[in-house]
Amino acid sequence: MERFADRTALVTGSTRGIGAGVARRLAAEGASVVVTGRTREAGEAVAGEISEAGGEAAFVRADMREPDDIATLVDAAVERFGGLDVLVNNAGVETNTAADEATEDDWDFVVETDFRSYWLCARRAVRHMDDGAIVNVSSNHARLTMPEMFPYNAVKAGIDGMTRAMALDFGPRVRVNTVNPGWVAIDRTTGDMDPDYREHLESIHPTGRLGTPADVAGAVAFLASDDAAFVTGASLLVDGGRTAVMQDDALPDYRARREGER
Ligand SMILES: NC(=O)c1ccc[n+]([C@@H]2O[C@H](COP(=O)([O-])OP(=O)(O)OC[C@H]3O[C@@H](n4cnc5c(N)ncnc54)[C@H](OP(=O)(O)O)[C@@H]3O)[C@@H](O)[C@H]2O)c1
Repeated sequence: MERFADRTALVTGSTRGIGAGVARRLAAEGASVVVTGRTREAGEAVAGEISEAGGEAAFVRADMREPDDIATLVDAAVERFGGLDVLVNNAGVETNTAADEATEDDWDFVVETDFRSYWLCARRAVRHMDDGAIVNVSSNHARLTMPEMFPYNAVKAGIDGMTRAMALDFGPRVRVNTVNPGWVAIDRTTGDMDPDYREHLESIHPTGRLGTPADVAGAVAFLASDDAAFVTGASLLVDGGRTAVMQDDALPDYRARREGER
């Protein structure tokens, strides 16, 4: 598939994890991709891998907490590849803090990285987009959450609202959608995870496994492509069915019983 032939995509937070997977997928479908983040070595490695696989990619360093860096990043992407068609807002951080314990620094850290940067990057990008698509990477924490995930959970819910606002304000030229990933196995989340705990997590997913960056990348590619030409303002859960489960402790026994019956 060459759904992104002659198109340029900017993927924030693509030095590793989900963003790197999205960059690889869009490049594999023909996009010229700008890889970005703060870590030059890792970003250049992702861009290098894409080039070695026959794709087109360049790394531009930017700190998404810095408004000037964001403006320079978007303009550099346009200059490097002659336009901009797809923006994937993905750079994200979290703190393990409760709403009554989080500090103003925790708030600024998460809100500036995961929320303000999405707006500033989209606002700058849309100036250069004749038509195209923006995909905002949110989380299943936008729908259901856990203790000590504030302000990440509040921000991720806010991204779904921001997506709807942008869909109205940037349409009809530019479509804007959200993907809400669930548990995605990357170094940060599963790198040193106890194997028994991982097995337990897998057992409470209807898919029987955790997600991969490629799973999220497939959904992002769909929403960014013309296959989603009539989809805007939407939020797509990519969580292996996790959010569909109410009593998750009942699911492993249920599955074992059903498998025993076969
Ligand atoms: N993994 C999951 O289970 C999961 C689930 C739901 C949602 N998500 C969302 O998916 C997105 C990607 O997360 P991930 O899991 O792939 O995490 P990750 O592996 O930790 O990657 C985070 C990316 O964000 C970049 N980043 C962080 N702070 C930045 C800053 N100030 N300026 C520029 N770039 C910055 C990092 O690059 P540098 O360090 O090089 O700057 C890195 O490329 C996030 O929005 C996250 O909330 C992840």
